[in-house]
This record gives sequence, C-alpha cells and structure tokens, in this order.
Amino acid sequence: MAVEVLTTADGRAKTALSRRHAAAWRAAREADDTPEVGTAAPPDRPARPDRPELLDPRDVPRRRPGSATGRLALLHAVAHIELNAVDLHWDVIARFAHLPMPVGFYDDWVQAADEESKHFNLMCDCLEARDSHYGALPAHAGMWRAAEDTAHDLQARLAVVPMVLEARGLDVTPGMIDIFRKAGADDAVAALETIYAEEVHHVAYGSKWFHFLCGRENADPKPAFHALVRRYFHAPLKPPFNAEKRAEAGLPPDFYWPLTEPPADPA
Ligand SMILES: [Fe+2]
Ligand SMILES: [Fe+2]
Repeated sequence: MAVEVLTTADGRAKTALSRRHAAAWRAAREADDTPEVGTAAPPDRPARPDRPELLDPRDVPRRRPGSATGRLALLHAVAHIELNAVDLHWDVIARFAHLPMPVGFYDDWVQAADEESKHFNLMCDCLEARDSHYGALPAHAGMWRAAEDTAHDLQARLAVVPMVLEARGLDVTPGMIDIFRKAGADDAVAALETIYAEEVHHVAYGSKWFHFLCGRENADPKPAFHALVRRYFHAPLKPPFNAEKRAEAGLPPDFYWPLTEPPADPA
C-alpha cells in the first residue's frame, strides 16, 4: 500500500489512493483483522508530477504575504510541503518495515499520512478557488533530502522529520493563519486551522516512537536526540518556538533550545 502511494505521481491521485489505503487499514484494525505488515522496497524518491518545476530554494521567488500573489504563493508552498509529507509518512512505514515495531507504530503513521492527504487537498481547493492549481508555481527542490539522509536509521528519521521539520510547522502556522485572517480569506483560515490542529499529533507520534526506540536500547533520549539532529539536520534550529504546542506534542524546551546554537565542540 505504501509503495503504491509513493509510486503514484499525480498529487490528487496520490492523496486519493493514500486516503483509500488508510481507510482500509483502519477498517481492518477495527475488525480486529490486522493485515500483515510485511516488507517492501520503497523507491529512493517518490514519484511526483511534471509540475511544479522544482528549483533550488535560493531561486524560488520571495513571497510578499501582503499581496494576493504573495498569499497564493504561500498556499502553493504549503501544498508542496503537504504532498511531501504524504510521501514521508508512507516512506517511514515502507522503509523500516523490516524492523520489529508494535502495530501502533503503523496506526500512527497511516493516520498521519491520511491527514497530510487531506491537508494537500485542502490547499489544492484553496488554490483552485483562486483560479490556480498545484503546479502553477515553482516549488522548493530538496524537500526529500531529510528522507534520503535518514533512510538507514529510523531513530534519525523520527528526530529530523516529525520532531524537527514538523515541529517547525507548529511555530510558523499561527503567523500564516493571521495573514489570511487579515485578508478575509475564510477558506484558507479554516484549512490552515485544521492543519495546525492535526500537525500536533504528527510531532507527538514522532516523539512517542523516538522515546520508544531509546527505551528499547536503554539510551537517554535527550542526548540521543541532540546527537542525531546535529548529525543529520544541517542547520541550527530557529526560534521563536511555539513552546505550548511543542510541549503538547511531547517536545520539552531542553530538547530544542540547545540546538539553536552550533555545538561547542564540533565532532
Ligand atoms: Fe500536514
Ligand atoms: Fe504532518
């Protein structure tokens, strides 16, 4: 199921399949008929549509959120992030299926993938309501880098993707909601509020399974997190942080604040 989603290129087709597979997984779990997880060979990179054109982040035109075109670019950028997130969550399922994990691990990432699919569709609806569509503007290349860098290490994947990248979403989404509220764009406000509410769980799933893996290896989670983020995430974390939502998601300040600065003793 995961590989089928990863190898589907079109955004709407990818999310439709993702939602269908998530519903099938949930129905089987509720019927107490848990499917065998098995193993899979996910592609190195997920299939994506021909458009948007993918540019180096330096070459993506800067957005001015005060203008209608700036707000459109912001919706397009969020759509791109959400589509990448759909693939990231199915990838964590397929890529690490050879490791013994409790079935709840799969429940969580199937749920997260389903929600990302909804988020992509919500952003596409907003773009289409403005006579645009996903693919109409250029988007960041390199979004898959975190997945490639951590393809061999589940603990590193959890540290970098949900606990750093998705946690960053909690920091910046309230500001985006404000931009659309000031512009009177009720559809975008409602969509972003749904995204904001659901992203807390994705960070929490990351923290939960990161701690699970540390516990299984009798490792101290905080220094393990610091070491993995420094090794696989190539920039300091940027304040301001949304301390309240991060706490709700199981990320205490002593996990992220030390990572705002380069290491004292670079190894
Ligand atoms: Fe999302
Ligand atoms: Fe997410």
